[in-house]
Amino acid sequence: MKQKLLQIEKEFECEISKVSSIEQLEEIRVKYLGRKEGLITIVFKDLAKLGADEKAQSGKLINELKQKITQAFEHKAIQVSGKTSAKAGKAAIDVSLPGIKRELGHAHPLTIVFDEICGLFVEMGFRVVEGPEIETEYYNFEALNIPLEHPSREAFDTFYLENKFLLRSHTSPVQVRFMEESRPPVQIVVPGRVYRPDATDASHSYMFHQIEGLLIDKGITFAHLKGVLTVFAKKLFGEKTKMRFRPHFFPFTEPSAEMDVSCIICSGKGCSVCKQSGWLEILGSGMVHPNVLKAGGINSKVYSGFAFGMGVERIAMLKYGIDDIRLFFENDTRFVRQFS
Ligand code: PHE
Repeated sequence: MKQKLLQIEKEFECEISKVSSIEQLEEIRVKYLGRKEGLITIVFKDLAKLGADEKAQSGKLINELKQKITQAFEHKAIQVSGKTSAKAGKAAIDVSLPGIKRELGHAHPLTIVFDEICGLFVEMGFRVVEGPEIETEYYNFEALNIPLEHPSREAFDTFYLENKFLLRSHTSPVQVRFMEESRPPVQIVVPGRVYRPDATDASHSYMFHQIEGLLIDKGITFAHLKGVLTVFAKKLFGEKTKMRFRPHFFPFTEPSAEMDVSCIICSGKGCSVCKQSGWLEILGSGMVHPNVLKAGGINSKVYSGFAFGMGVERIAMLKYGIDDIRLFFENDTRFVRQFS
């Protein structure tokens, strides 16, 4: 076998050295590398007749020869065709052709706003954590002090999967998940996707994004809540922004408040965006309910804390003057490119 291979090699070298056209080269390619009757194919077939040891040895030699021939062939192809491609000039690269233009990506406006908001809280010492979008009833409701029969469950209604799993309707479940596995002080923000069975229109979507915040330590009061959120709002919307806290109800905070900022469009004078009120509601907040601390394994006699949650689309819409929430999810790059 070895002899035979040497002979093929010699013959090949002799023949290839004489080649001067693509046609001749193709003839040689068929003779040696042809899939049906190429010499290399034939010797590979002959292998079957050999004993195991010899088979392994010869197999290796044939492969080496095949590689040599292929390389020599490619080399010759370049010479003959005068171009840079190996495939007999067929797929030659023409360096004078214009290149393929690669589209550059762009951060989605929601990603930009997520990064900006989380960044502001990180500056204040918060850590960014995430939680699952598929939740249990326990974390989405019960652990947040929303019992089965409580009417406020409706406000956080969602899509149910099999086996009592559901798509979380807010990022608040991560509060309890995080408390369970850590000890105070807790200081986190939680960006994420949430779901609600709302009919889609210009201001509603069955899927949207929230950022949750949670801070727990000894001696935390409503004053801390106001302080942190005031710094946040001024940094996001500008130093002149005014804040207003309106009493509200959330089952998982007590007392609870919604925070409004002076309208960033009309600076509080009254316009169509703020419905002539001069104020824009931007988040829900409150002191973490003792039952929620308990669900998280934290002693409410020793620790207290505050939580807040905001809709990211709403803030992005205000910030960029976007008037239809559906634009975020249509994958139209003409829309996405407009933001920086
Ligand atoms: N989870 C509430 C919502 O989705 C927002 C919220 C979070 C309110 C934390 C108070 C405290 O509307």
